[in-house]
Amino acid sequence: MLGAPSKGMVLDAVWEQEARQGLELSSQPYCRVWCEERLQTERMRASWCPGLPTAPHDHGCSTGRIQILIGDFLERRFIFAAGQLSQVSEQRLSSGQASVCPPGTIHSLELVSSLGLTSHVYRPISDFMRLFDVVSEELLRVSHCAGAWLPVPESKVLERSPFARWQFRR
Ligand SMILES: [Fe+2]
Repeated sequence: MLGAPSKGMVLDAVWEQEARQGLELSSQPYCRVWCEERLQTERMRASWCPGLPTAPHDHGCSTGRIQILIGDFLERRFIFAAGQLSQVSEQRLSSGQASVCPPGTIHSLELVSSLGLTSHVYRPISDFMRLFDVVSEELLRVSHCAGAWLPVPESKVLERSPFARWQFRR
C-alpha cells in the first residue's frame, strides 16, 4: 500500500502546476502566481515563458533575492553610466541557485529551459522601478506593480526620459 504523499512531494506538484502557467504566456516573460506584501517585504513567485527575456530593469530602492525553484535561466547584468546601458556579465542560474540584487542593480532574466518558476523577496518595498527600453533608448520609471517588460501601460509610467537626459533621483 502506498503511503500518503510527503510534504515535499505535494510542494513539488504545486510548483510544477504553477510553472505550467507560464507556458500560456506569449507576449510577456513571466506572470505572478503568488504575491504577499507585509512588514515592508514583498514576496512573490513567478511563472515563466521560455525564450522571452525581461527588459533590463532594477528594483527601485529594494534589495531583491530571486531563487530558482524550477528551470534554467540566463541572468544578464548591466551598468548605466553617461547615458549608456552596457552589459557587464551573463550567468546561468539553475534550480536551487539564487541571485541577490542590491539597490541599483540592473539585470534581465530569461528562461532557457522548458519550465520555469522563481521565488522573489524584495525589501523594503519600493514604490517604483526603472525599466530600460534599449530600442528607443528611453528610461522609464514605473510603478512597482508593473512587470519587467515592455510595453508598459501608460497608467503605470511615472516618468519617461531619453537615456542621455536621465537624472537619477528617488
Ligand atoms: Fe528583477
